[in-house]
Amino acid sequence: MKHNDELIGLAVVTCDIPEVLKEYNIKDSNMMLIDSIMIKQEYRGHHLQRQILKLLEKRARELNLDGLVTTVHPDNIYSKNNFVNSGYDIGHLALLHGGDRLVFVKKIVEKSNL
Ligand SMILES: CC(C)(COP(=O)(O)OP(=O)(O)OC[C@H]1O[C@@H](n2cnc3c(N)ncnc32)[C@H](O)[C@@H]1OP(=O)(O)O)[C@@H](O)C(=O)NCCC(=O)NCCS
Repeated sequence: MKHNDELIGLAVVTCDIPEVLKEYNIKDSNMMLIDSIMIKQEYRGHHLQRQILKLLEKRARELNLDGLVTTVHPDNIYSKNNFVNSGYDIGHLALLHGGDRLVFVKKIVEKSNL
């Protein structure tokens, strides 16, 4: 994400990572894994993380994925709120990367299935 040619936010994502999803105890395999989202300090507080989440969801739909998954440190209230407010389910606490992480999942439900 850029503002006047300055990089102010970024997301690192991967797809097609069944072994990672298994580690997260997630049964679906066709998911986008959001590894990290960062907003430059002086630009925080403008809901840019939520904007990035919208873009990622759009991309996941274009790729016909079943949903998106991420993990958040339990103390990261800003990120937790943004995932919950963007429609993610708080799945479960998992021991990952050497510590506790909350696993957040958002399934993509196609209109035809509603
Ligand atoms: C988490 C993060 C991406 C959120 O950025 P953002 O989209 O700009 O945050 P929001 O617009 O949702 O901010 C909501 C509120 O929290 C505050 N806030 C957000 N991040 C903050 C931080 N790291 N420290 C202090 N306050 C913060 C904002 O000022 C705002 O306060 P307000 O409601 O009183 O105005 C950003 O804090 C960040 O890059 N953190 C470091 C990396 C990180 O934790 N990434 C997520 C890993 S899953």
